[in-house]
Amino acid sequence: MVDTGGMIATLSQASPKASAVPQAPQAGRGSYWITTFGCQMNKADSERMAGILEAMGYREAQAELEADLVLYNTCTIRDNAEQKVYSYLGRQAQRKRANPNLTLVVAGCVAQQEGESLLRRVPELDLVMGPQHANRLDVLLARVEQGQQVVATEEHHILEDITTARRDSSVCGWVNVIYGCNERCTYCVVPSVRGKEQSRLPEAIKLEMEGLAAQGFKEITLLGQNIDAYGRDLPGITPEGRRQHTLTDLLQFVHDVDGIERIRFATSHPRYFTERLIDTCADLPKVCEHFHIPFQSGDDAVLKAMARGYTVDRYRRIIERIRERMPDASISADVIVAFPGETDAQYRRTLALIEEIGFDQVNTAAYSPRPNTPAADWPDQLSEEVKVERLRELNALVEQKARERSARYAGRTETILVEGRNPKDPAQAMGRTRTNRLTFFPGLRPDGSTIQPGELVNVHIGEVRAFSLSGTLA
Ligand code: SAH
Ligand code: SF4
Ligand code: F3S
Repeated sequence: MVDTGGMIATLSQASPKASAVPQAPQAGRGSYWITTFGCQMNKADSERMAGILEAMGYREAQAELEADLVLYNTCTIRDNAEQKVYSYLGRQAQRKRANPNLTLVVAGCVAQQEGESLLRRVPELDLVMGPQHANRLDVLLARVEQGQQVVATEEHHILEDITTARRDSSVCGWVNVIYGCNERCTYCVVPSVRGKEQSRLPEAIKLEMEGLAAQGFKEITLLGQNIDAYGRDLPGITPEGRRQHTLTDLLQFVHDVDGIERIRFATSHPRYFTERLIDTCADLPKVCEHFHIPFQSGDDAVLKAMARGYTVDRYRRIIERIRERMPDASISADVIVAFPGETDAQYRRTLALIEEIGFDQVNTAAYSPRPNTPAADWPDQLSEEVKVERLRELNALVEQKARERSARYAGRTETILVEGRNPKDPAQAMGRTRTNRLTFFPGLRPDGSTIQPGELVNVHIGEVRAFSLSGTLA
């Protein structure tokens, strides 16, 4: 599987992939290749689809050009993400003309957005399937094998998947807790491609975590596009009149899975981020002190035009509360510049907020008009020059702040969960701090024994960079 690098690299910031555990090839149908674009939701879906393919008897191909089945799990969050998919598809369509036995699948958000029209654009495709259909890949492929060209984009209740996902890591696992998004941010294509919110039952989530723990996984990231909305589609009211199922209750419910050492969650929405959630994170020892809370803009009028449902002041109070309870917490976010009508003064308020908060990491983007979103039709779109210039200045500030935040680690001893080897230097091991800073250190102990993925080791931090750290074993 190839991961093209996260659009929202929230928890895998600048993350070289730890080498995957080799798995015994199975006899059967031929080989598959999956390329994943976009966010963790897509990465998690790809792991499940790979699991389904392996259960069907496919084995992972050594190279994309050798594969008998190629699946692109696509992203359309910005125009450049969508265009990238078409250029990849062009190459495979050409290959298919020479080799009609090749099976070509487009899954994910571009598939959902374009549906049938993808077939007109690329007639060589065998299967176009939206994200809600990921767990049905086997059923859909069976129809392809009968000679049909299949489009699966109708709304679908996501059923529990009984296949074992083929996970890229053997240490850190993703667990979906809520699919879809019911927000209506005026720039965002996600609600139209991911559909309505669907929460999984707490028992199913815990069961998956227990399964992962039994396989040796140490860290779980609970996933949702708007994870704070978890549970609002599930029935149940507590005797105190609260919703029975919230993210806070879920964290408490899954916290004690034996063997899991660290729990993270993403992505949080400031509108729903509660004090009760912050207090619970502070109280539960396995929940890591890292919070990914996109703020999108530092200006109230822009936030209103984006329909985000909070003010800058509310955002500040959340961060203050987190830092009161967890002083060392790392905070990351997403931000958009050059939203339609954004004035220079409004843009400067975004810079000022970054300066004031001091983020550990910010994913930045220039606004990109998306199909079926209100803001795309607004008249006051900004020029490419303004977008490029604002983004350039913003990125420089983000890096400077990240560097300042990294400085606090110098000389400290941090507990690192080992994920694998540094792909650029196999003599080094790599892992993360609880606060999600990528950390490199020697892969051998003084006694000559090798440090293994899944171990928790204490590392004395020497060198600090904007987005990573290096050190020696303490
Ligand atoms: N659910 C998350 C974000 C999901 S999309 C949230 O509410 O914050 C990931 C990020 O992509 C967003 O946070 C936003 O910063 C960016 N993004 C989404 N739509 C965009 C657009 N049309 N143009 C530029 N960036 C966009
Ligand atoms: Fe998009 Fe807003 Fe939903 Fe996030 S909360 S996925 S930005 S609509
Ligand atoms: Fe992209 Fe779809 Fe995720 S549009 S960011 S892959 S939800």
